[in-house]
Order: sequence, then C-alpha cells, then structure tokens
Amino acid sequence: MKIMEVEGGHKLSGTIRVSGAKNATVAIIPAAILTDEEVTICNIPEITDTDALCDILHELNVKTSRASGSLVIDAKDMKNTEIAEVHSKKLRASYYFMGALLGRYKKVSMFFPGGCSIGARPIDLHLKGFEALGAKVTKSKNKYTVEADELKGANIYLDIASVGATINIMLAAVLATGTTVIDNVAKEPEIVNVATFLNNMGAKITGAGTSTIKIVGVKKLHKCFHEIIPDRIEAGTYLIIGALCGNPLRIDNIIPEHLDPLISKLEEMGAELEVGTDYVVVNQKDDLKPVTIKTAVYPGFATDLQQPFTVLLTQANGTSKVVETIWENRFMHVPYLNELGADITVKNQTATIQGPSNLVGTQVVATDLRAGAAMVAAALKATGKTTITNAEHILRGYEQIKEKLEAVGAKINLKDI
Ligand code: EPU
Repeated sequence: MKIMEVEGGHKLSGTIRVSGAKNATVAIIPAAILTDEEVTICNIPEITDTDALCDILHELNVKTSRASGSLVIDAKDMKNTEIAEVHSKKLRASYYFMGALLGRYKKVSMFFPGGCSIGARPIDLHLKGFEALGAKVTKSKNKYTVEADELKGANIYLDIASVGATINIMLAAVLATGTTVIDNVAKEPEIVNVATFLNNMGAKITGAGTSTIKIVGVKKLHKCFHEIIPDRIEAGTYLIIGALCGNPLRIDNIIPEHLDPLISKLEEMGAELEVGTDYVVVNQKDDLKPVTIKTAVYPGFATDLQQPFTVLLTQANGTSKVVETIWENRFMHVPYLNELGADITVKNQTATIQGPSNLVGTQVVATDLRAGAAMVAAALKATGKTTITNAEHILRGYEQIKEKLEAVGAKINLKDI
C-alpha cells in the first residue's frame, strides 16, 4: 500500500503541465493490437494503468518499447492467449481487449474486468453490441467467451450512451465486413481520439463526437503515428486545486473547450480565472458562491470531476448540491471530507454541502481514483498534516502528481508500507 502525506495550507504558484488522457490511452493501447504492423503513440501518461495494459500486451506476446512519453507497440508475433485474471482485474479498461481480440481473431476469452468500485459497472451493452455483429457470447462464472465465424456490420442502438460500450463495439467493428451504425453513442473527447487513432491505422469511422458513429469495415489496418489528447480530468482536478490554493496557478497544455462545464461552474462561483487558448490561470478567492452541479455524459459536467469539485464547494459561502447521475456509488469521499471538517450529507444520489468549512488535516482513505484526487485537493487546503492511505489508487490516473504539485509549492511525501 502507498501512503501520501500532505502538509496543507501552502499557496501554490507556477505552472502545471497536463499529461495525456488516461481514458483515451487505456483504449488506444488495446486498439493497437488490431494491426500486425508497428504503431507509435506519443503523449502516453506514465501512470500505473499504462503499466497494467503493457503487462497484458506482454502476456499476449506483443512487443513494446517506451521512451520519454511515447510507446511503440508491435503485435506481429501476438498470441491470442487468455489474459490472466490477476491482470484483467487490475483495471476496467482491460475489457477493451475483448473488442480488439474479437476484431482481430474473431474469438476472445476473458475474465470480468476490475477497476474502481463506483457502481455495479455491468458490460451488457458491450456484449449486446458484439452479438449484433454476429458473435456468440458464453458466460461461465466470471469469464466470457465471445466468438464468431464472421463479424458482419449491423445497426446497433445503445440504451445508455456508454463510453466503454461505444469504444468496444468500434474496436470489434472496424475489421468486420460491411457497415456498422451505432446510435446513441457517447461523445466524450476520448472517443474521438480513439476513432482518430483507428482512422490513422486505416479504419473508416465517421461521426465520432456526435451521437451516431458509422464504421465501414476494412480488411486490414496498418502502422501509424498517433498523439493522445490532454487529460481533461487531470486538468480539471488541478484547476480545482488552483481555485482552492492558487497564487496564481497556471494549468498548461489543455483543450479548454473540453473543460467548458467545469469552467462555467467556476465562473458561476465567482472564481478568478483567465482562460487562454491552451491554458487556464486560476487564483484562490475567499468569497465563492455556492452552486448546484449534476453529472451527465459529455458535454455535461463530468462525473470524474464531481469528487474533487465537492472539495471546492466546502469553501463556498452557503449551501451547494452535487447530483450524481452516472455512478450509484460515487460519494465514498464524503465521510472522509467530513473527517477533515466539511459539513456534507448524502441522500438519494445528492450531496448537500454547507460551506464554508475549515479543513484540518487528519487520516483519510483514497477509496478510488477520483476520491483520492479529492483527498489530495482537500489535504492541500487543510491546515496541518493529512495522511492518505490507499494512495496507489491516485497513481492509476495522475502522472507524477507528487512531483507536479511539489514544483508549485506543495509539501508531499509518498511512501510504501
Ligand atoms: N452501463 C451499463 N451497461 C454497460 C455499460 C455501462 O449499464 O454495458 C452503465 C454504467 O453502469 C454507468 C453508465 O452506463 O452507470 C455509464 O458507464 P460508461 O460505460 O460510460 O462508463 P465506463 O466506460 O465504464 C468511463 C471511464 C470512467 C468514467 C465513465 C463516465 C474509462 C476507462 N472509464 O467508464 O472513468 O467515469 O466513462 O464518463 O474510460 C475514471 O477515470 O475515474 C473513471 C471512472
């Protein structure tokens, strides 16, 4: 287990450069096995989710080499072996190997994926999509076997605009015969980045970023060079930290449009912001106004920013509300924020935050990745020392978080126990 100790109460000044998007990277790495030619991906974040996916590639006899933010993947000698449960359990995104292996070999056998415990996280829509393409799905205990003689293009409607199902069905459909049309798809920027990657490899995908994606199947994909987009959730987390402790804090290498819902809520609160073409500068302010946020699929307010944003709401003057509509178990950070001195109650998927509160350091737990980010934000604001246990969750999605924050004035110690 990793423990993060944060000495709070320091003002943060300087620039934080945002890394490549985790949720694009974790789909693009599995997607790379759809070709037997070498692909080069740059702006890869150095996070433990990247390491976990590379371990799976090695298990499949795929060669990788990593150097200063780029990853070269060569799946020429790949073997379609069953991924060990210990590997697929490490992260949710291991399920993208289902779509990719099915697309390349027409057969895959995989254990149920792992990931943060933020809800039931079923994969029924992924499986329905594979079936619509002509595959047969067999489940035994927690293992799925998906196989087809031939994958054929189909019209698919997603009951929920699921990020994972949209991407997984795209992965299975790019090498299918005929045309696939997926309706009510998710529109997240990471999906557009994955579609661009596949198109760079020779796929024929249109409509990514809208609610209908069309995929004309091709026979073969080829080598390519691709760049991962900046991580809007990492950027948003640092923006929130800037609004809590910035003096001022500049968040660099971002696409501000991807952060529109957060930026407009910060503006509604009266936060001091300067939005540039690829950066935002933010200053801490005392008299913030309370607001209500409701999480929604993109371009709504990102559920992944809800937990860190709740920390900022503890500093607003009055009653704020956070309504979580995507995940049924995403308020696990709340008891720990209350331990730090916040006044938050949760009822029916809605958190009510009474501010402002004085936060004082204590011992807390990073129950999942974004809850961990919320603990870091709260610890930086709190007076005294906060000890965050299970900090390994944070390292799954934030590249060099300790180093990035220390460079702008934070005092953080990270250790293994
Ligand atoms: N859902 C179903 N059936 C399915 C798929 C999804 O009912 O087959 C439901 C889920 O239970 C959930 C909703 O649909 O209630 C949305 O789930 P979605 O499939 O969109 O989420 P995901 O693909 O599992 C990704 C991100 C999450 C992020 C969500 C929503 C990755 C690896 N994960 O998850 O990111 O919260 O989209 O934007 O891309 C994080 O980074 O901390 C994180 C959890």
